[in-house]
Amino acid sequence: MTRALLLLLALFSATTVLAQDAKGDPAEGRLKAYTCTGCHGITGWKNAYPSYHVPRIGGQNYDYLVAALTEYKKGERKHPTMRAQGESLSDADIADIAAFLSSLNSAE
Ligand code: HEC
Repeated sequence: MTRALLLLLALFSATTVLAQDAKGDPAEGRLKAYTCTGCHGITGWKNAYPSYHVPRIGGQNYDYLVAALTEYKKGERKHPTMRAQGESLSDADIADIAAFLSSLNSAE
């Protein structure tokens, strides 16, 4: 009885951990981030600095990217162009894009 209970508990916590780790799909994010490259200049999926200043987003921390995009989406960050970008994204889009961008090697 105790054994079965422990097994159940173990299974339960394993699925909880998996659910929390679900960070979005980088392959999806790669497609969804296509429009971002016009301004953020991810040429050949590396970072190039565009001719006017935009923040480097490739290789950024996942949680940071999700937070920044969510803030633009909600209007907590006021920048008009990025706000328009954020508003067009769903939470799932943001997770996918952040998964893709954070998977890029910032040193390349
Ligand atoms: C029209 C040009 C343009 C496009 C398109 C664009 N961005 Fe931006 N992005 C900017 C500019 C300019 C800033 C700096 C805004 C500011 O100062 O708040 C910025 C800021 C950001 C930041 C905040 C970075 C930081 O360090 O604070 C993130 C994250 C970001 N963009 C992601 C994206 C993503 C993802 C997309 C595609 C869905 C995208 N951007 C499309 C111009 C653009």
